[in-house]
Amino acid sequence: MFKNLFSWSKRVKKLDPDKIPEHVAIIMDGNGRWAQKRGLPRTAGHQKGVQTLKEICYACGELGIKYLTVYAFSTENWYRPTSEVNFLMELFKKAMRNEIGELEENNVRVRILGRRQGVDPDILAEIDRVEERTCKNDGLILSICFNYGGRAEIVDAVKKILSKYHFHESIDEEYFKEFLYTHGLPDVELLIRTGGEQRLSNFLLYQSAYAELVFTNVFWPDFTKKDLVDAIYEFQNRERRFGRIGKV
Ligand code: FPP
Repeated sequence: MFKNLFSWSKRVKKLDPDKIPEHVAIIMDGNGRWAQKRGLPRTAGHQKGVQTLKEICYACGELGIKYLTVYAFSTENWYRPTSEVNFLMELFKKAMRNEIGELEENNVRVRILGRRQGVDPDILAEIDRVEERTCKNDGLILSICFNYGGRAEIVDAVKKILSKYHFHESIDEEYFKEFLYTHGLPDVELLIRTGGEQRLSNFLLYQSAYAELVFTNVFWPDFTKKDLVDAIYEFQNRERRFGRIGKV
C-alpha cells in the first residue's frame, strides 16, 4: 500500500500545478473488449467501468480538475443488442441510486447531459434526483453524457435559439454555448479516449474545438489514476497554439 501511495505522489509531482487542465473529458471505451479478453460477458466490463469512473472522479478532485465530463451512453448506443442496452440502463439507474451519498459527501455536483426523449421515466426520475441533491455542491462538476450525441446537441441548441428569437444579431460563438447541454462549462482542454480507437465518436464536438486529444490503448476498466496523471503530463507538454503562431 505504501509503495502505491509513494508511486502516486511521485507521479503527481511531475505535473506542473499551474497547468492542470480545468476541464477534462473522457470517452470511456474498451469495456466490452476488457471483458471478452477475460472470457466474461461484455456487461462485466461495463460493471467494472463504473468502479473506474468513481476512482477517476475522485482523482480529478485531488488533482484540482474542476470539470470532468464522461461519455456513458450515446444516441447511437441504442443500436446495440437489446440485452446490452437494458443492462446499461439498469447499471446507470443503480449507479445513480447507490452512489448519490458518496457523491454528496465528496462535494461532487452531478449533471446529466443529453436528450430526455426516449429515456425511461424511472431513469429520468433518478437523473432529476441526483442533479437536485448535488446541485449545491461546489467541488468537482461531474457531467455524465447519457443519451448524448454531439450533433443532436448542436441541433437542439439551434432549436432553442429559434424558439426564442427569429433573428438575433448578437448570437456569436460564446453566446451559442449557453444553449448547449454543457452551458456554464468551459471548453474542454484535455480529451482522453481509452481503448485504442482514435476518433471523437460524436462527443462534445463544439466544446472540444481546441482540446488536446490523448489516446491510450488501456481499456477503460483498467484505466487508473496513474494513467490520468500520464495523460495530464502529455497535455502539459503540448504546445497549444489555438491557430496562432507560437505559444499562447
Ligand atoms: C464503451 O465501451 C462504453 C460504453 C458504451 C458504456 C460506458 C459506460 C460505463 C463506463 C459505465 C456506466 C457509467 C455510468 C455513469 C453508470 P464498449 O462497450 O464500446 O467497449 P468495446 O469497444 O470494447 O466494445
